[in-house]
Amino acid sequence: MYVPDIDFLTFDDLPDILRINAASSCSWPEEVIRSDLSGDSNSETTYLGAFATTAEAPLLGYAVLGREKRAGLLMALVVDAAYRRRGIGRQLLAAVGDCAVYMRFRRLKLKVRKSNSGAIALYTQMSFSGETVRRGYYSNGEDAIIMSAALPLKLRTRQ
Ligand SMILES: CC(C)(COP(=O)(O)OP(=O)(O)OC[C@H]1O[C@@H](n2cnc3c(N)ncnc32)[C@H](O)[C@@H]1OP(=O)(O)O)[C@@H](O)C(=O)NCCC(=O)NCCS
Repeated sequence: MYVPDIDFLTFDDLPDILRINAASSCSWPEEVIRSDLSGDSNSETTYLGAFATTAEAPLLGYAVLGREKRAGLLMALVVDAAYRRRGIGRQLLAAVGDCAVYMRFRRLKLKVRKSNSGAIALYTQMSFSGETVRRGYYSNGEDAIIMSAALPLKLRTRQ
């Protein structure tokens, strides 16, 4: 397990976010990130980053929290491919959950590709469950699973 420093992201972190995006098939669009982090947009988004505790690889992953009606919405969660399966995604998600509680949300929602079994395993471990399927949601026609969890998030222990 790797324990990163988790902190809010600023516009200065943009190059590192784009580096992580470039190596991932599931990333958040650059123009949206630029607009959110520069403060130009009216979107209520919070960007959290997992930072290395040593200087050579500053940003290891990031997550974006937004809002959908009265619930928090996890809009993105990406970990640098070289640092996966070391608990960073889980810690970022827990931090997103803490922020969502602070913002007085009672539930956290997300959409995930049906084929993304790794992410679904992580979300299930963090107490999310699948609600509905949105057929053909993604541009390649793939279905999205809508998952949600009550806040605060709880880590499900293995049976
Ligand atoms: C999904 C993602 C964020 C997970 O990040 P991560 O740091 O590797 O996740 P963690 O190490 O915290 O994993 C926690 C648990 O989730 C589950 N899990 C995570 N990735 C998994 C995988 N590829 N296969 C199976 N289970 C997985 C496991 O139960 C894992 O616990 P374990 O390693 O003790 O078995 C990362 O794989 C990623 O960035 N993928 C590309 C972007 C993406 O798909 N984002 C989500 C949808 S937008």
